[in-house]
Amino acid sequence: NKVVLAYSGGLDTSVIVPWLWAVKFSQLNQIGLNDVARENYGCEVVCFTADVGQGVGELEGLEQKARASGACQLVVKDLQEEFVRDFIFPCLRAGAIYERKYLLGTSMARPVIAKAMVDVAKEVGADAVAHGCTGKGNDQACLTIRSNLCNTHVRFELTFFALNPELNVVAPWREWDITGREDAIEYAKKHNVPVPVTKKSIYSRDRNLWHLSHEGDILEDPANEPREDMYMMSTSPEAAPDKPEYVEIGMVSGLPVSVNGVKLSPASLLSKLNEIGGKHGIGRIDMVENRLVGMKSRGVYETPGGTILFTAARELESLTLDRETMQVKDSLALKYAELVYAGRWFDPLRESMDAFMEKITEKTNGSVRLKLYKGSVSVASRTSPNSLYREDISSFESGQIYDQADAAGFIRLYGLPMRVRAMLEKGI
Ligand code: ARG
Ligand code: SIN
Repeated sequence: NKVVLAYSGGLDTSVIVPWLWAVKFSQLNQIGLNDVARENYGCEVVCFTADVGQGVGELEGLEQKARASGACQLVVKDLQEEFVRDFIFPCLRAGAIYERKYLLGTSMARPVIAKAMVDVAKEVGADAVAHGCTGKGNDQACLTIRSNLCNTHVRFELTFFALNPELNVVAPWREWDITGREDAIEYAKKHNVPVPVTKKSIYSRDRNLWHLSHEGDILEDPANEPREDMYMMSTSPEAAPDKPEYVEIGMVSGLPVSVNGVKLSPASLLSKLNEIGGKHGIGRIDMVENRLVGMKSRGVYETPGGTILFTAARELESLTLDRETMQVKDSLALKYAELVYAGRWFDPLRESMDAFMEKITEKTNGSVRLKLYKGSVSVASRTSPNSLYREDISSFESGQIYDQADAAGFIRLYGLPMRVRAMLEKGI
């Protein structure tokens, strides 16, 4: 009877509201009700907007907009701390990177939003959920053929399935015949829905506290260099300050807890680092990735704070993890990233891997000082109370524990398979 719609206020989600009504009314008409019933039928479409740090302004006037489109209610939830603490930080701790470069900003945001939708559905007594793309400045994403190839849809729906298999999922873009921006505007007018006056961006974007992604337009040709005026979270390395800046990240059990000695909540820690990193042109990533549905797509990401945090975590682990532990962790990180990209956040496999990651990084405590300079982040120092590095062993100078005399015998035995093979080949 009631449906919760993931709502951004953009053109695509605005037309979904009357469209959902229209679906409802075709049913009502069948049982002999007419359009007048709409006012009397009670609450039907509940719009839901999540704040995952997509930027201020986005939420202003949204309630009126939603109502003007025909929604009975707008529910807004601030998910920022939850997003960083329960979604971003586990990925960071796991070292999850998709296809060598992508820090999964959009992929991680979908399950936290979809999870909140499942909760809202329960709160308002809805039995269905509906969603479009929630990308910013990409009204068109869900109004074009690409919407059927959208990663976002898979990620939303897998989360719905995992958390409440009884919910009906309404997928307007798969059912309706609106086929583009002009079409959608016409549909909106016909249904007395105010056409949102969002500036039509040429790029398809998605922003949250972790990153900002750009796709589309000139980026669709991987041979084109992005234009400088596209970037929004970071200054160009060329225009960044001529003086380097140092930043110190404190970590406990593989998770960041402080910046320059100041303890911060997950979300405020991240926004602080976005600000510092952005100023120095840190974290621009330009890549061609394999989308879920098989095709390749070119995207450019800005992940300033995230890039700083990944560097810090990796650096501290160089002190706290031994060789094999690190190898196993890194090999699992690949699978972890793949699951997150593929929308399988609420998969027991991902959850089990997190239990492993939590255990393995238990002793990753300490701090890392990083130097930010014109787009680069390099390590200046790292310290840990749990460091496995011992100067008295590793030093070129002395050698009390590490007895050089042990070396010769070790090498002979360690190299035995090599010698055996060579002897065989040479007939010895
Ligand atoms: N390709 C990335 C992903 O699937 C980012 C997509 C973000 N959306 C956008 N309209 N730029 O996770
Ligand atoms: C979106 O950002 O919501 C649509 C694009 C995608 O899923 O890659």
